[in-house]
Amino acid sequence: MSDSFIPISQPSIGARERELVLDALDSGWVSSIGKYIDEFEAAFARYCGTEFALTVSNGTTGLHLALVTLGIGPGDEVIIPDLTFVATANAVAYTGATPVLADVDNDTLCIDPASVESLVTDRTKAIMPVHLYGHPADMDALTTIARARGIAIIEDAAEAHGAEYKGRRVGGLSQCGVFSFYGNKVVTTGEGGMLTTNDHSFYKRAKRLRDHAMTPERRYFHDERGFNYRMTNLQAALGVAQMERIDDFLTRRAEIMAWYKSAIPSSENIRLNRVKNWASSAFWMVCLEVDGFDEPRRDDFMDKLKQRGIDSRPYFCTMSSMPMYRQEPLPVAARKARTGLNLPSFFDLTQKEVARIGEAVNELLSDAGQR
Ligand SMILES: Cc1ncc(COP(=O)(O)O)c(C=O)c1O
Repeated sequence: MSDSFIPISQPSIGARERELVLDALDSGWVSSIGKYIDEFEAAFARYCGTEFALTVSNGTTGLHLALVTLGIGPGDEVIIPDLTFVATANAVAYTGATPVLADVDNDTLCIDPASVESLVTDRTKAIMPVHLYGHPADMDALTTIARARGIAIIEDAAEAHGAEYKGRRVGGLSQCGVFSFYGNKVVTTGEGGMLTTNDHSFYKRAKRLRDHAMTPERRYFHDERGFNYRMTNLQAALGVAQMERIDDFLTRRAEIMAWYKSAIPSSENIRLNRVKNWASSAFWMVCLEVDGFDEPRRDDFMDKLKQRGIDSRPYFCTMSSMPMYRQEPLPVAARKARTGLNLPSFFDLTQKEVARIGEAVNELLSDAGQR
């Protein structure tokens, strides 16, 4: 069996990606105007089932732009999950609003609606659920909380391209969805992001703010402070080629998950990704949780995997553990962050490699007295 190093993730760039990127390069349209921007936005909107999609420079600027477009700023509160990538919290903080941290669900790892409910105040302007590691958040429960109080929802769908909630794709389940196309994502453009929405006025305003808020009547006159959050035509060309393959990407990710499930048997204290019956996960990351782990044991386990040539990564740290957002820990998020880890998953990962990872995981778990 090969001992070659298995990375946690790697992009799949084929002949079509090369062809379209070279075509964009040869066209001379290397900045943010060009046919691939239009094609990528159209393909992405079609895929998500939304009326509009707007390319942006990355997922973080996309989240910031969505919040600013909704008029969120100083004095406002935005409820986000404690367990997420830091960009979710930072985007709120960039606006001057306060990120309010909610606990997460034990199974989905996504924001817990009961926790959200307990945190709503007169200042709450938005809820920003994260479809973490590819599993959708419980959108109906969140929508019920938000609608009754006139609160907006922005889906942080950075990790969940193609995931479905009750048969509907994420990104079209609220005022706005925000995706990332960073190199380890289901679909990549190197760096990049996308806003999705069905709201025409939101789309128009987001587009204007993305492009420095130039007035349509007078060139180079700007009546408010906007941003340059644009994507390039070169990146969009890569995105168009990747969107042609998204069904294959997602099918393979589901296959990989099934390989893992047979290679690493679940038990009372050892679990892989759990998927709710109302959800279809994009399986962006394979998640392994071991009840008997604490942070040092988890990290030691990851070191030993690395010695066997297998990459892994710990779950995200909680926002409440970081100096910028420090507060009392939230129990579920804190436990997950201390004990969870992600195993390799990417398009070209083979069944043989998953078997090798499974063997190493099972052996190390039994050495550690967890099996
Ligand atoms: C949940 C989440 N939100 C936002 C982002 C930010 O996206 P980007 O890296 O494209 O800025 C990421 C990830 O990379 C993420 O995982």
